Formats: sequence, C-alpha cells, structure tokens
Amino acid sequence: MKEKIEKLEKLREAAKLGGGEEKIKAQHEKGKLTARERIELLVDEGSFQEVDMMVKHRSSDFGIDKQRIPGDGVVTGFARINGNQVALFSQDFTVFGGSLSEAHAEKICKIMDAALKLGIPIIGLNDSGGARIQEGVVSLGGYAEIFLRNTLASGVVPQISAVMGPCAGGAVYSPAITDFVFMVKNTSHMFVTGPNVVKTVTHEEVSFEELGGAETHSTKSGIAHFAFESEVEVIENIRKLLGYLPSNWKDRPIEKEFNFEQDFIEPKLDAIIPDTPNKPYDMKEIIHLLLDDNEFMEVHQNYAQNIIVGFGNVGGVSVGVVANQPSVLAGVLDINASVKGARFIRFCDAFNIPLLVLEDVPGFLPGTEQEWNGIIRHGAKLLFAFCEATVPKVTVITRKAYGGAYDVMNSKHIRGDFNFAWPSAEIAVMGPKGAVEIVFKKEISSAKDHSAKLEELLSGYIDKFANPYIAAERGYIDEVIIPRETRQRLIASFQLLKTKVDQNPKKKHSNIPL
Ligand code: HXC
Repeated sequence: MKEKIEKLEKLREAAKLGGGEEKIKAQHEKGKLTARERIELLVDEGSFQEVDMMVKHRSSDFGIDKQRIPGDGVVTGFARINGNQVALFSQDFTVFGGSLSEAHAEKICKIMDAALKLGIPIIGLNDSGGARIQEGVVSLGGYAEIFLRNTLASGVVPQISAVMGPCAGGAVYSPAITDFVFMVKNTSHMFVTGPNVVKTVTHEEVSFEELGGAETHSTKSGIAHFAFESEVEVIENIRKLLGYLPSNWKDRPIEKEFNFEQDFIEPKLDAIIPDTPNKPYDMKEIIHLLLDDNEFMEVHQNYAQNIIVGFGNVGGVSVGVVANQPSVLAGVLDINASVKGARFIRFCDAFNIPLLVLEDVPGFLPGTEQEWNGIIRHGAKLLFAFCEATVPKVTVITRKAYGGAYDVMNSKHIRGDFNFAWPSAEIAVMGPKGAVEIVFKKEISSAKDHSAKLEELLSGYIDKFANPYIAAERGYIDEVIIPRETRQRLIASFQLLKTKVDQNPKKKHSNIPL
C-alpha cells in the first residue's frame, strides 16, 4: 500500500506543477498567478475538493501525444466561499496556453452539470488561448458544449467569470453569457479577433489593451462589469459579490443579522437636493446613506454612468439598487444606460433579489444618434425588465420623473410595490419649459412680451405640476416622505415585502426586445 500511496502522491505532485517550473516562472513574470494560486486565494481555506486531476488529452496530431500533462490545462472542483458551496474551474495557462481541448472542455462541463444539480454558483477563472489548435473541430465542439451549459444554467445558478489572461475567439462567448465578468487591468484581454487580424481585415492599428483590455471593456463596451488593478483584487471582489447572491433561483435573498433597535432617521438626506431643479447632485451620496453600513458594491461603475446599479443591504436584506445619476448627462436614459439597467434588473429578478429604485430622470435622450441606433428598442428593454420583475420593488422619486421615464422607472402602474416621493419630486409629462412652449405656443407668440408671458405661464405650470401631490392624490405615489425618513421606510417596506408572491402568466419564455 505504501508504494501505491507514494505513486499517487507523485502523480498528484506532477499534476500540481501543470506545465512545469519554467512556465510557472513565465506566468509570474507576466504579473499573473497560476491557476492553483488563484483558487487558493478565492476559496475558504482548505475547502477545495478537486476533481479530474488526472485527466489527459487524447490527441496525437502535430506530435502533442508527447505532451500529455495531467489536468490538461484546467483545474476543476468544488469549494466553499464565505461558507457557501460553489463549483469552479481555473484555466492553467502553463499547459498549452490554457487552450481548450476536448478533455479540458469535458472537465468544465462535468462541474457545470453538477452545479446545476446541486444549485450552486459556477465560477470560471479564464486564462486561455482559446480552442486548442491541434485538436481542430473537436475543441470547437468542446466550446459549444460549454456555451450550451452556460445558457441552460442562466437564471438557475449565478455564473461569474474572471478573465485573467487572454480570452480570444469563441472563448469570449462563455464569459459573455455569464452574469458577471471581472477583468484585470493590463493583463487580461477579450476580443473576437486580436490586433493582427484586425489590421489585416480593417487596416486599423490597435494595441491589445485598446482593443480588448479591462479599461476598454469596463468603460466602452460594457462587457466587463468590474475591472481591478490586480488579480488579488478581482478575487477579493468575487468573494464580496457572492456575499449578496443566493446560490440558486429557488433560494431566498441573502439576509444578514440586523439590529432593528436603532434610529434610522438620516438628517443628511434632507440637504442633498439643490434648490435649483437643474443643478446636478450625486445620487451615490443618497445611495450610501440609505444602505446598511453605507456599503454599496457598484456594478458597471465606469460604464453608462448616467445610471447606477449595484448591490447593498437594507435592514439586512440584500437588494439590487437601480438609480438615475443626475450628475452625469442629467441622469437621462440613453441606449447604454437602458441596456445596463435592464440586464441588472433581470439578474436580480432571476435570483429573487429585491429592487430599490431611486429616480431622478428627465426622460430618454433625444437625437438622431440615439434614434438611429435604436433607443426605442433598447429603452424598451429597461421597461420590459421592470414590468416583468416580480421581486419586491420599491421606488423613491427624489426629483424629476418626466414622461416615459416616469412609467419606466418602476412606477406603480408596472407593479411597483411601494412608490415613495420626496417633496422635491416633479412628476409630469415633461419639463416645465418644454411643456409650456407646446401647450401655450399661440399665447406666447401673440403676447407683446414673449419672455414675460413665458415666465408667467411657467410659474403656473410649475405650481400645478412640478410636485408629487397630483400623483399622490391618485395613489400612484403611496406616500410623500421627508428625505430623512427614507431609510426607515425602506427597511419597513423590504421587511413587509419578504412574503410577497407575484407571478407572470405561464409561457415558454418572454420575447424581450433584443
Ligand atoms: C494550442 C496554444 C494556443 C492554442 C497558445 N498556445 N494558444 N496551443 N492552441 N489556441 C500555446 C503556445 O503554442 C505556447 O506553447 C503557449 O500556449 C503559450 O503561448 P504564447 O504564444 O507563447 O504566449 P503569449 O505570448 O502570452 O500569447 C498568448 C496568446 C497567443 C495571445 C493567447 O498564444 C495566441 O494568440 N494564441 C492563439 C489565440 C487564438 O487565436 N486562439 C484560437 C481562437 S479561435 P509553448 O509550448 O510554446 O509554450 C477559438 C474558436 C472557438 O477559440 C470557437 C467557439 C465558438
């Protein structure tokens, strides 16, 4: 037995070395950790249960049968994170550049299949040159098997991807299907085709970083939800994100211990909205004041900043926050903001995470650029996502709620459970000036003093419509509240809504305007 155990130990040691000392050194020199070092940082100490350590590829073309490294370029298994079970894979760049062979794909599929049965999140640490070139179509088939499982798992268990190296070709589509993509600045890249192919096809000269680096994908394309300076930061933030998420779609939202015997009045909230309606303010200040311990984990922090989305807790309950940001483009809804908001809302709804909506929105962004690129279709996504969501939904209108944007941002009419407004709320079809110029066009043009007439009509309109009371009279607003009372009302609302049950009509699936 002793010899047999020693043999196994040797095999294990060999597998743990992956591509060997030299390749590990090269990986470190690039500022990257190895697949196993990443897992060690990610999971609770001693909790990793590896599977398929001995799996090898079965190919022989181009002489690769002489390089059959145990594990075949990916470490897979199960572990606990913050005490909760997860399934994970971590690609090993030291073995054929982490490229995906048939066997490598089978290992990933095995833990994905198990994760679905167990109802636990799937975390992928990607560091791969894509399909293993020597295996040809077999590796393409392997990718397709993963894409299928990513799709089937979508909405069943949370799926998180970290891109920690190259991610080229079809390899980008697995992360793209998952719920959250993390990238590391300067060492990770995602693109359908790299700079060389781009140069050949379009004659554009572009660097790796500019084409598909973390900065690009977290600011321009929105593919990356998070971008951090180092792999360690990425891993810490995956752990943090999981702290807000249930393990699967049947679980209740995460609830932390909370002391209800406190004073929830927050006087600072009374002083945030400026006296002048068009003056910007930072909605994040309000978000922080409303959340437990002022802690907010923002998603897509640097993309479409006119809308803010992210996670926090209210009275211990984990919530998804969706808020307009008046300090960026006046909080207007454009294409990117609509898509960003819609995807986040659908994630929260899929996993029973209640929604807190903070509204100050002058409407949808007008203009040819937006219209020709489909603001109608993309704006409809946001509307659709709010309409479809059956989780607890609470809205607070802090200032503007104009036009279609009033309807869209979780209004009462689309199943908002509690709709509050601050006394500073302006709920109207459009802003006062635009409205008066349309409705009183003739009166203004026939007046001797156009601007005096405009001012007079404007003040009448503001008195009548630029407030929350007409909506409150109708019950479209459940209560007009003093800002300082907001946290108290939110805590009470989310507690009450814990037993909420709502359903959509039975169907195969909806047809969101993609
Ligand atoms: C087999 C690969 C490989 C691959 C890298 N390697 N990519 N082996 N198949 N796809 C091997 C290299 O031969 C090398 O082996 C080792 O990994 C490290 O690669 P280097 O090139 O030395 O590293 P680096 O300079 O860091 O460049 C990394 C890289 C580059 C940017 C990923 O290797 C690269 O461009 N690879 C090809 C990317 C690609 O086009 N993949 C196919 C995409 S198409 P040795 O033994 O020398 O150390 C695709 C289709 C999927 O994925 C379809 C799904 C729909």
